[in-house]
Amino acid sequence: MILLGIETSCDETAAAVTVDGAVRANIVYSQISKHAPYGGVVPEIASRDHVRKLPGIIEQALREADCTFRQIDGLAVTYGPGLASSLLIGWSAARALSQRLHIPLSGVHHHEGHIYSVFLGEEPPVLEGAFPMLVLLVSGGDTKLVYMKAPGCCEIVGQTIDDAAGEALDKGAMLLGLGYPGGPVIQKTAEGGTPQAVRFPRGLDRAGGDWKFAFDRKLCFSFSGLKTALLYYVQKHPEALADENTKRDLVASYQEAVVDALTTRVERALKKYSCASFACAGGVSLNKVLREKLGKLSETTGVPLRLSSPKLCTDNAAMIAGAASIRLAHGYPPVLPEDVNPNLALENWPVEKA
Ligand code: KG4
Repeated sequence: MILLGIETSCDETAAAVTVDGAVRANIVYSQISKHAPYGGVVPEIASRDHVRKLPGIIEQALREADCTFRQIDGLAVTYGPGLASSLLIGWSAARALSQRLHIPLSGVHHHEGHIYSVFLGEEPPVLEGAFPMLVLLVSGGDTKLVYMKAPGCCEIVGQTIDDAAGEALDKGAMLLGLGYPGGPVIQKTAEGGTPQAVRFPRGLDRAGGDWKFAFDRKLCFSFSGLKTALLYYVQKHPEALADENTKRDLVASYQEAVVDALTTRVERALKKYSCASFACAGGVSLNKVLREKLGKLSETTGVPLRLSSPKLCTDNAAMIAGAASIRLAHGYPPVLPEDVNPNLALENWPVEKA
C-alpha cells in the first residue's frame, strides 16, 4: 500500500511516501531560520510558510519515490496536537487531495507518529517481539512515559508537570545566548565539557509538597526549576560565560541534568513495568548523551532499546505515513476526524477492528 504522508503541525513542512510502511521518500523543509530571530516559533509566520512550501514539498516527495498522484492508495496527515493554524494547512491539503483523487485519508496523532518512528526504515516495519514496550517521548513540547502493552494501547504512566525536556534545552540555550533551537547547540557547546562541574537540580527528586496528579510521582518530570537554577547560577557567576572552558562545563552540566532526569525515570519505569523492549522518540532523542545513556541502561537491564534513525527523530512526514500504515496493517480503520485538534489526546486504538 502506497501512502503519502503530510506533516505541518509546527515549523517543519514535510511530505513522505511509504510503501507497506517502508520509507521511500522523506522530505522535510525546516523553517528554523525564519523563527530564530524571535527565539521561538511564531504561528503566523509558520502557517504562511507552510502555504508557500507544501505543494513543492509534496511534489518533491513523489518525485523521489518515483511515484505519481494516481499511484497513491491513501493519505495520512497530522491532525493534532500542534499549532492550529499550522495543522490546518496540511489538513486542508490532504482533504483536498483525498477528494480529488478519491482515496482514503487517515488522521494521525503527531505523538503516535513519533512513537512508531522507532520501527521505520527502508524495509517494512516489524513489530513482533517489541511489546510490551515502554516509550520515552521527548518532543519539543512534550515529555511523557508511555507504556504500550500492544500496538495501539497507549497508557501514559508519567509526564512533565511543567516544561518539556526540549523546552528546558531551548530556554536554557536562549538564557545563555546560544541561539535557537537549543537542543543541538547545547549538545555541540557541551562537547568535551565536565558534566559534573555544576550540580543542577533534578526536578521532583525531593519528597514533600502536595501531589495533585494522577501519575506516580517517581515517573514524572519537572524542568522549570532547572531553568531557574541556571538563571541564578549565571547571575551569581557571570564570569562562567566569559571563559570557553567554564562555559563548556556549565552547558555540559545543564545537559547532564536534563538527560539524567530522563534516564532515571526510564530506569524506574523499567523496574515497575514488564517490558520486552523500550524506546525513545521525538526531537530530543537525537541527543548523543541521551542515546549513549539509554544504550547503557539497555545493557545493564538486558531490555532491548529502539531508537529512531536520526532523520526520523525530529518532525517529519514519514512517521505520519508509517504510523497510519502500521495501524491499517493491524486491521484498524483509519481515523477520519472532522477537524484538526491542537490539544488532541493520545488515545488507544478502538477495541473494534475494521
Ligand atoms: O520532535 P520535535 O522535532 O518537535 C516536536 O514535535 O515538538 O522536537 C524539537 C525539539 C527541540 O526542543 C529541539 O531543541 C530538540 O528537539 N532537539 C534536540 C536535539 N535536536 C533537536 N535536543 C537535544 N539534542 C539534540 N541533538
